[in-house]
Amino acid sequence: MQTIRGFRDILPEHIGLWQKVEQEAAALFTAFGYREIRIPVIEKTQLFARSIGEATDIVEKEMYTFEDRKGDKLTLRPEATASISRSYIQHKMYAVDPVRKFFMIGPMFRRERPQKGRYRQFYQIDAEVFGVESAYIDSELIFLLNELFKRLGLTGLTAHINSLGCPECRPAFQKALMDFLGDRKEVLCDNCTRRMKKNPLRILDCKVETCRQALEGAPATVDHLCPACEDHFNIVRSTLENQNVDFSVDKSLVRGLDYYTRTAWEIQTSALGAQSAVAGGGRYDGLVKELGGPQTPAIGFAIGFDRLVEVMDQLGKAPKEEPLDLFILPLGEGAMEKAYAWSCELNLLGITTQTDFRGRSMKSLMKRADKLNARYVLIAGESELAEKKLILRDMNTKDQVNIAMDCLADELKTIFKKNNKG
Ligand code: HAM
Repeated sequence: MQTIRGFRDILPEHIGLWQKVEQEAAALFTAFGYREIRIPVIEKTQLFARSIGEATDIVEKEMYTFEDRKGDKLTLRPEATASISRSYIQHKMYAVDPVRKFFMIGPMFRRERPQKGRYRQFYQIDAEVFGVESAYIDSELIFLLNELFKRLGLTGLTAHINSLGCPECRPAFQKALMDFLGDRKEVLCDNCTRRMKKNPLRILDCKVETCRQALEGAPATVDHLCPACEDHFNIVRSTLENQNVDFSVDKSLVRGLDYYTRTAWEIQTSALGAQSAVAGGGRYDGLVKELGGPQTPAIGFAIGFDRLVEVMDQLGKAPKEEPLDLFILPLGEGAMEKAYAWSCELNLLGITTQTDFRGRSMKSLMKRADKLNARYVLIAGESELAEKKLILRDMNTKDQVNIAMDCLADELKTIFKKNNKG
């Protein structure tokens, strides 16, 4: 049996990097007042179709959708923003305190063509803020991303930001785009022709060569912002500049989900070939209302966790596995019972200890201690047990000392304290 295409196991030898990122992210978000939220992995299909947009790649082609036994149409979540917005509305969070900051870490599902950095089950680290219209929160989110990547020692990332305007200024932009396209509309691909009616902005993101050519020199949203959107974008930029966050304005950035308004951004890398976006986000001031809640400004981002880990791996940022403090080497049945009791006791004291119950020879157990990278080995053979004196071997220096069996835990505590442990 094998995993399904695009799905994979993350094995214990790779988990250190994932845990390091999770800890750094949770600590940073918590310090900034973001609280963890956990949302279901499955929701009604309608939630994603209405939020992400019927005419997006995700909704048209990539969702894992099925009918359950009662015929309800359900979907494995392809992202978290829709679900967190649903939760905000369902629990009437806006009534108690409309300003809410969330983060979540978990798996998402999109049936894309698998390749390096692109999986069908992948993980996101997601942050969302509800109820704040001010541009300072846009800056805070981009600042947080930058800070997290800095703490993780990531280099070679670039932040691309753009403003997509709002319902006030978008119609004028769309008209300018249509005027520009004029006769060129004929050469657009079928997707663009279809999308033109629902969200013409998406044409700007098309990767088909003929569309790209047709769009050369096309108008940009940033050049058609209303005064309020322009002020907003100016504050985002100046705040980031004041905080020394590197970014460039990317007029062609539109993002692949329909809910965005105003600020949108991506953090890109050149380390993963075609899959250049390590994180993406933006404002979605219309979504809560669209889903049946009160008008609520909102904004957030998601980091592609798998991609982040791959970049960190390439940069050699995987944490070293901690060596084992102690391996107890039991020789004989009576020794095994003792070894079991001591290993439990020592592990509870914070001295990482393992033993072996397979009744192996001294030679093979020493090999096992080496394999486990044990700092010390405690030899408990029949004669040692009879004399109530065990042998402690330092695996670095090969020195051996005797330890009285009755004060084993105390002796080891002292030794490990000297080694800055325990
Ligand atoms: P997104 O751009 O679709 O945005 O995804 C965010 C990130 O998830 C991407 O930049 C990428 O790193 C990662 N990602 C997406 N698809 C895959 C895949 N198939 N395999 C591996 N990684 C992938 C969103 O999902 C929005 N919900 C972000 C957001 C939050 N906007 C506002 N709040």
